[in-house]
Amino acid sequence: METYRDSQGLEYSASSSASIERFDDLMSSFMGYKPDVGMKLKALLKDDPSMPMALCMKGYLAKMMGLKALHERALAMAETLTGNGFDRLGHREAMHIKALEVWCSGDLEKTASIWEQILLHYPLDCIALRLAYFNHFYSGDARRMRDSLMRVLPFWEQAHPYYHYVIGLYAFALEECGEFELAERYGREAVAVNPQDAWSVHAVAHVMESQERHQEGIDWIVNLEPHWSAVNNFRFHLHWHRCLFHLEKGEHEQVLDIHDQLLVSDLDSDFYLDLCNAASLLWRLELHGVEIGGRWQVLLEAAKRRIEDRDLVFASLHYLMVIVAAGDCQSTKSMMDQFRHWADSGDTQGQIMHRVGMSLANALINMRQGKPDQAFQSLAGIRYEYDRIGGSIAQRDLFNMMLLDAAGQACRHLEMRALGAERVTLRPQSRWAWLQYGQAFKHLQEQVKAKEAFDQALRLYSNSHD
Ligand SMILES: [Fe+2]
Repeated sequence: METYRDSQGLEYSASSSASIERFDDLMSSFMGYKPDVGMKLKALLKDDPSMPMALCMKGYLAKMMGLKALHERALAMAETLTGNGFDRLGHREAMHIKALEVWCSGDLEKTASIWEQILLHYPLDCIALRLAYFNHFYSGDARRMRDSLMRVLPFWEQAHPYYHYVIGLYAFALEECGEFELAERYGREAVAVNPQDAWSVHAVAHVMESQERHQEGIDWIVNLEPHWSAVNNFRFHLHWHRCLFHLEKGEHEQVLDIHDQLLVSDLDSDFYLDLCNAASLLWRLELHGVEIGGRWQVLLEAAKRRIEDRDLVFASLHYLMVIVAAGDCQSTKSMMDQFRHWADSGDTQGQIMHRVGMSLANALINMRQGKPDQAFQSLAGIRYEYDRIGGSIAQRDLFNMMLLDAAGQACRHLEMRALGAERVTLRPQSRWAWLQYGQAFKHLQEQVKAKEAFDQALRLYSNSHD
């Protein structure tokens, strides 16, 4: 095995220079969310079965799927790589293998710090960049995501073929930090260079969601769809975003159609985000008073396959949503047993499960079992810590909506009015928010205020359908 350099000057151990070119090609698919990443990696490993970075990448991709079975595969890969010793490897390769090993142990703080160390030495290492980002995202720390990008951005030349991916990553991180104007500028710049860059399209969609630009958000996603629709299952998340805009406009039929035709069209692939998108959308539809029929049951088998996953609290809570909403008591019990063990494990996500996840899980169960007051108390107790489960502000907003719903169902009308006031202040264009606010006034016998809120909801509905 020799040492070769790729086009960025990064060193790799491989059996031939052809492997480096193929790894480069693999990276271009990885950065572009292309569906052929696995296929390219498999072909590369067939010809160069002991290339360390290719093997490490196999472990990384397995971990990114968040499936228990794939965790075992990643662990075996890490053990093989570390068993071979680091002596003959370059500094960067050895650090990546260490990161895979530590990731498999569950210490995400340490894993992320190794990737950040790699970036100190090699700011053009897009694997470390993407994985650090992934980890910061699921640690719920938007500032870490943003700062990680800021530290490397000056090293990326505008002419670099991945430059737009990097500013697209930065754009989303900025959006999550509330820096909407800058986020939109970087996101649009990335999309102008490459409209197939689904993550950058997504970053701008987030800005529009945060700023309640509903119709503009739909147009943005739909008009660019011919470009981004060739990416992997991440494309369904863009459809999910489109649904959020339609939902705010009261266009429930479109939402149901997108759910049925797209969001649940590939559940067999076991991509965790598919289930998160669908579960989150169904729960929102119900909060909007939409009859969803037997759609929870459609998701149930896919959710049950993931009861034993222990990678992402955020994703597991969405699987639990499906299981409790489908009324599967046995699976609910199994999942809660699993959660309790996870919460005691002490690993990074286990600590998040202990601190926040268990309360959210209990709230989900209590909401479905007719105990809204307990649900309200569980949610209210940790409402300022939701971000610790990771995911985006838009995704976690479901728990804010649930808290407001729980207040109403528990006849806590003062709290409902207060939460309604918060929501109409934050989201003045939200029909749902004004309806909830109006309901609170109605229950409190404040009829004039109730009428004002309901009239505002009606005006928003009419305006969005002019
Ligand atoms: Fe998103």
